[in-house]
Amino acid sequence: MTLFMNKTKKAQTQNPVLEIIRDRWSARSFSEKPISEETMHTLIEAASWAFSANNEQPWRYAVAYRGTPLFDTFLNLLSGGNRPWCKNAGALVLSLGKKTYTANGNTNTAMLHDVGAANMLFTLQANALGIYTHVLGGYDAVKMAELFNLGGDLVPVYLIALGYLDDHEKLEEPYRTREITPRSRKEISDLLLELNQ
Ligand SMILES: Cc1cc2nc3c(=O)[nH]c(=O)nc-3n(C[C@H](O)[C@H](O)[C@H](O)COP(=O)(O)O)c2cc1C
Repeated sequence: MTLFMNKTKKAQTQNPVLEIIRDRWSARSFSEKPISEETMHTLIEAASWAFSANNEQPWRYAVAYRGTPLFDTFLNLLSGGNRPWCKNAGALVLSLGKKTYTANGNTNTAMLHDVGAANMLFTLQANALGIYTHVLGGYDAVKMAELFNLGGDLVPVYLIALGYLDDHEKLEEPYRTREITPRSRKEISDLLLELNQ
């Protein structure tokens, strides 16, 4: 079952891209198996080894495990299209970014770049442990900031839903079909720009 899903989602590449990159995909079918605090710390430590401008490490993480009041609060802040399948996630993790450099208070214009890089390492480490992730922009970030008094130097970036994989058949439509739809990407020729001097 898991093999089928991974085969469908595995990136079909033109070049010898690393296996761990080909196997990453945004999952929606999560099993009841909980994520331990120890495992979560491993994922956050993996994230912490991302590069960042001036080694500022502007990322922060707020973890809500399924079955806790915080999880329900995060779930209720999700958009309608994310809630039906995110309710089964083992955890919902809010990534946040620190807007200014600690050393001098200047605006950190690289903050979103660096939080994104950390989130990718979080995901790749999770995949290596058999856990799948799904980054979510579909939530009420304004309410999130209000609810947790995040008006100062910290800004909510994106949520990450994660969990061990379950059978896609358990999902309702349209999520069931999406869970087995092959992934696609632009051609490399569309990404390469010729700069004229
Ligand atoms: C910043 C960001 C926000 C996203 N928000 C959502 C979301 O709210 N709901 C959703 O179902 N997927 C969301 N996604 C997942 C993307 O749709 C997904 O990464 C993209 O379709 C490529 O699929 P893949 O990750 O399986 O390769 C988001 C991804 C990113 C990076």
